Amino acid sequence: MHQLTLINVDDIQTVVNVASVPQRSPFRYPGGKTWLIPQVKRWLFSMGTKPRLLVEPFAGGGIVGLTAAFEELVERVVLVERDEQVASVWRAILGGDADWLANRIMNFEMCHETLETELGKGGGPIREMAFRTLLRNRTNHGGIMAPGAGLIKYGENGKGISSRWYPRTLAKRIREIGRIRSKIEFIQGDGLDVIREHACESETAFFIDPPYTAAGKKAGRRLYTYNEIDHEGLFTLTESVRGKFLMTYDDAKGVRDMAARHGFFVETVAMSNTHHTKMQELLISKDLAWVR
Ligand SMILES: C[S@@+](CC[C@H](N)C(=O)[O-])C[C@H]1O[C@@H](n2cnc3c(N)ncnc32)[C@H](O)[C@@H]1O
Repeated sequence: MHQLTLINVDDIQTVVNVASVPQRSPFRYPGGKTWLIPQVKRWLFSMGTKPRLLVEPFAGGGIVGLTAAFEELVERVVLVERDEQVASVWRAILGGDADWLANRIMNFEMCHETLETELGKGGGPIREMAFRTLLRNRTNHGGIMAPGAGLIKYGENGKGISSRWYPRTLAKRIREIGRIRSKIEFIQGDGLDVIREHACESETAFFIDPPYTAAGKKAGRRLYTYNEIDHEGLFTLTESVRGKFLMTYDDAKGVRDMAARHGFFVETVAMSNTHHTKMQELLISKDLAWVR
């Protein structure tokens, strides 16, 4: 048990524009952390030595793990995701089907009819499921793939379902990830189990970005198929890890209370997205001295 220290709640004034960070993920992910990348890099650099492993137990679009692998900020990356649709994309790309998937994307002619036909299909090999997942991700409103999500209606410049379908960009990102796949392991499963497996390793770092459903908050519920996790259990588990961790949460009183109970520091972090909407979330860790 760690000594309860003063919770230091300050605003990090750095407002990051997502446009300035390289986009490497094949997903447009609800709750994606592209905007947090500059801070994540500072956190990793603050460790002095390169972590052997970075575990991203709630990977989603995996931007943190991808950035760490591409920019060689860590030696190896483990991505974990429970959602089988999302997992299919990682399994296909990291399992050797990156070129196949890229070609499938390049050869698809997007329109309502072809989209409906594809999305109506089921089964088949993982790579086909991966293709359907990316189609859904790029044509659903907000990139949301959870049940109840609908297609983009108007999109950018009234381009509707095509407004987020950039086949060339997508194919390029997928091929690039395929090229560094030996550095990234993907596990379809429960992120908490994987944290537990690596808890005693002092040279493993954890970037933990769970669905925001703690303290009765509903924000994460409509965004993800799997949105219920044991938040208190996650905090308890995180308290036991020997390596460094950085956790992100929505700024809610219940979350701050939980952090205080576990002796963690919190900082608020501000961002502005491509629509210039200001947002604020919490960074939580045992050590946030690198923030200042
Ligand atoms: C906030 S999102 C992560 C977003 C990610 N950091 C990004 O930048 O794209 C949370 C993710 O956790 C996944 N998830 C929910 N429960 C999980 C569990 N028990 N184990 C692993 N992943 C889980 C959800 O499917 C969702 O993709």
